Amino acid sequence: MDRYVTLASLTAQGTEVLITEAQLADRVRALAEAICRDHPHGVHLIGVLKGAFVFLADLARAMACETTTDFIALSSYGPHTSSSGEVQLLKDLESSIEGRAVVIVEDIVDTGLTLASLQTILRARSPASLRTVCLVSKTSRRQVDLPIDYVGFSIDDGFVVGYGLDAGERYRHLPYLARLVPEP
Ligand code: IMP
Repeated sequence: MDRYVTLASLTAQGTEVLITEAQLADRVRALAEAICRDHPHGVHLIGVLKGAFVFLADLARAMACETTTDFIALSSYGPHTSSSGEVQLLKDLESSIEGRAVVIVEDIVDTGLTLASLQTILRARSPASLRTVCLVSKTSRRQVDLPIDYVGFSIDDGFVVGYGLDAGERYRHLPYLARLVPEP
């Protein structure tokens, strides 16, 4: 059992602000500029549901280059807060990515197992290029070596919620990133 949370105990737990709204806005703007610099002819954004929906919405609106958007859903943690390493495609893309300049928009990379699987799945579909942007990277927890081209914030550990990220479907609506405070 992991040390952060059981769903039943969530209501008793608090959160502490990790990244403020202003910090998020600044960083998202910088990421949008970097992505457009690398993709002057436009980019196809693939948001990983559900956690990336807020990040993608802000990122796309901050981009000066042309964008198109699609979404994909992979199996998530379910009721647990640690990755099983088993990745399942829950919702596929609506359009082909063959020959397109693609950027995966991911909320958070923890062990890296989910993103590594997704990159393998998408690379097999022959995009012209495949890059990845993630809002939060938990560097110390990485289990696989994988390319992440644009990183919003690097943190060591801890369970992060808000700005689209959830714990058992809670907290996605928070306009900032918060850390779940572990039970004493
Ligand atoms: P990974 O396969 O361990 O890298 O897990 C990636 C996925 O787990 C993310 O896309 C999130 O859905 C979820 N996840 C990992 N860490 C957190 C966290 O701190 N807060 C919320 N979701 C997380």
